[in-house]
Amino acid sequence: MVAPDHPARSAGTPPRRGGESVTAPSPAGIHLAQLPPLALYVHIPWCVKKCPYCDFNSHSARGELPEREYVAALLADLERSLPDVWGRRVGSIFFGGGTPSLFSAQSIDALVSAFRARLPLAADCEITLEANPGTFEAEKFRGYRAAGVNRLSIGIQSFNPKHLAALGRIHDEAEARRAIEIAQQSFDNINLDLMYALPRQTPEEAAADVEEALGAGTAHLSFYHLTLEPNTLFHRHPPPLPDDDTAAAMQDRVAERLAQAGYVHYEISAYARPGRECRHNLNYWRFGDYLGIGAGAHSKISFAERVMRSARCQQPKEYLQRAAAGAAVQESHEVGRADLVFEFMLNALRLAEGFPVGLFAERTGLQIAVAEKPLREAEVRGLIVRDHQRICPTELGQRFLNDLLQLFLPA
Ligand SMILES: C[S@@+](CC[C@H](N)C(=O)[O-])C[C@H]1O[C@@H](n2cnc3c(N)ncnc32)[C@H](O)[C@@H]1O
Ligand code: SF4
Repeated sequence: MVAPDHPARSAGTPPRRGGESVTAPSPAGIHLAQLPPLALYVHIPWCVKKCPYCDFNSHSARGELPEREYVAALLADLERSLPDVWGRRVGSIFFGGGTPSLFSAQSIDALVSAFRARLPLAADCEITLEANPGTFEAEKFRGYRAAGVNRLSIGIQSFNPKHLAALGRIHDEAEARRAIEIAQQSFDNINLDLMYALPRQTPEEAAADVEEALGAGTAHLSFYHLTLEPNTLFHRHPPPLPDDDTAAAMQDRVAERLAQAGYVHYEISAYARPGRECRHNLNYWRFGDYLGIGAGAHSKISFAERVMRSARCQQPKEYLQRAAAGAAVQESHEVGRADLVFEFMLNALRLAEGFPVGLFAERTGLQIAVAEKPLREAEVRGLIVRDHQRICPTELGQRFLNDLLQLFLPA
């Protein structure tokens, strides 16, 4: 599974048509003593070709990309949003997609420089860019590094040619290996995305992918269980997938092998060498704030008395027009009390370390007592453990995360 709160997932609040809409103020009646850390997400909505399993807001690139116009639109979008985050320090930036590596190093450089000029970036700001094998060469990677990108996330998915073909990827296993090799010439902080439970994949084949990913020795590995998402080709025409028990056994094997190799399993799908966890994603999971700019990007921004969510329009062409007119945001609403509880748990309980009890009040402006009933039930069912300091999902809770989260669903 991919983080449900990912700011580029197509799912989530459907944007309403006909301009920005804002719901009546103050349903939550909260007070935040301090604002959460802030991250910036930048969405690049094009790919060479749409993958049949993907429900991210990504569109096949037909002809030349309107790269210059899009950079201008992103900056107009940011300018318009600045008053909402005025003076707040940005701890991480994430160029996600889509396929950001379709953009030139010059465009990324122009964006990072413009961000620096408009927002106070932390001295150690983590700046990640998602790159797809088959869409860059060594020179481009050097350019990204020079632009200030200090972390690369490469979409490998599998090293097996049969599975790459079944997933409709544009790259083969040789390009996957080459991508890692040339990335390592410019970056020491690299994540590889892989998926398991692929069409007709055997446990041995999944294990071979794990070994090859480990062999690359990168700081971070993400292993996602391939899911059939609505509105994808795979959902309409499901391929033959391993059954649930086989998929669970694959996941156990991934986790065991990576633990043996010294990786910390800190979130359902994320493994890092100690200290190399993805700060940007940790901020989502700790219910931090994020400003998402770009087509279809989502934001969560807190103010002293309310938490707001908003979404930009999804279609790149419409986004270009609306951003230029200062109207990229299509929908915006205040998060109500019950949703604050659910959304906090949805994120924080994905983390193996859970959360310090005080973080709940810090991020939601509500007392933890409002969640006492579902917390007690989760404890009785062995899905969490807690003391006065910390609340953690148990192994059972992590395995049956959906059951655990359901307890917090608003009535
Ligand atoms: C934003 S996506 C795409 C990044 C990049 N464009 C790529 O495809 O390499 C990030 C990751 O989500 C994972 N992903 C996408 N769709 C998925 C699905 N249906 N099930 C599980 N993981 C998925 C893939 O591993 C992908 O690399
Ligand atoms: S390349 Fe990545 S973002 Fe694009 S369609 Fe495929 S999985 Fe989705």
